[in-house]
Amino acid sequence: MRIGILTGGGDCPGLNAAIRAIVRRAFIDSVTVLGIKNGWEGLVKNEVSELSRAAVTGILPRGGTILGTSRFNPLKDEQSIGKLKHNWQALDLTALIVVGGEGSLSAARDLWLDHQLPIVAIPKTIDNDICGTDFTFGFDTAVTIVTDAIDRLHSTAESHHRVMVVEVMGRHTGWIAAYGGIAGGADVILVPEHPFRISRVCELLQRREQDGRAFSIVVVAEDAHPHAEENFLGSDQSQTIFRHDRLGGIGEALALEIERCTAIQSRVTKLGYVQRGGSPTAFDRILATRFGIKAYEMVRAERWGQMVAVRGNKIESVPLTEAVCELKRLDEEIYGVAEVFFG
Ligand code: F6P
Repeated sequence: MRIGILTGGGDCPGLNAAIRAIVRRAFIDSVTVLGIKNGWEGLVKNEVSELSRAAVTGILPRGGTILGTSRFNPLKDEQSIGKLKHNWQALDLTALIVVGGEGSLSAARDLWLDHQLPIVAIPKTIDNDICGTDFTFGFDTAVTIVTDAIDRLHSTAESHHRVMVVEVMGRHTGWIAAYGGIAGGADVILVPEHPFRISRVCELLQRREQDGRAFSIVVVAEDAHPHAEENFLGSDQSQTIFRHDRLGGIGEALALEIERCTAIQSRVTKLGYVQRGGSPTAFDRILATRFGIKAYEMVRAERWGQMVAVRGNKIESVPLTEAVCELKRLDEEIYGVAEVFFG
């Protein structure tokens, strides 16, 4: 047996733990594992090398991915698909384990459904936006980083009696904002699932000031939009902030608007790629390791077109078709918990 592994899309902490788990489990059965470089691009360009046990020694606590990654879409043209299939045969691959987010998993689904390539998938992303699984690895680490940042921002916000706006990642969902904001004790949390009214945000902040709480923390997800009836962004500004492939900037615009409306000094911190870097938390290391072992077992059982998932505390599998048919939006129950602490 020869199993390929690739990591595609944005990196996240825990990828190396998953790679290590697959290689170590395969090693027990003397199965060969091939590491494909830089996501799907490596399979199209045939950039592949064997992963020995020694190759994965010491990588468990390391962030990023030893294989490299890219957002390359192998289905973008016939030529790429042809090369990918050619290399698959030349490498004599029995199966491929794809570790990816929404983009890479959609490509995996299509290559399985339309080209019958034997693929098993592992969900990863700091955004936690993949359906069918309660959590993706990378998310817990990102939330821990956001929480730590909010803890630090509290003391400086308090000393200067300021509003601190903290912009976090999450793409089109508010999981990181809600979890990080709840854990950090944010006073307002703005998520894509609930367009916000700037008048209400300012009212909450002013009431806090009047009540003697002269500082506030506002967490805003990178794709949180103002309500259409109170849109304070110009159309050019909106286009720059809400680009699908590169979101960012709502925090800056929001801080300016808060300061303009409330006259409370406001500052912004955009956490950016810090949320994706560094060592994974214990939770993410364990989840990635369990996912890796399960994915290997699914390959042995020829469960093609399936993705590993965690539900409750059980590692299960779900069809890729279900996992990528839509984004997993922030759970309303979680938002309800966050809302209790607004103001
Ligand atoms: O999907 C992970 C993520 O970090 C998102 O939260 C963010 O919007 C996006 O990737 C950034 O993508 P890129 O690495 O291509 O700039």
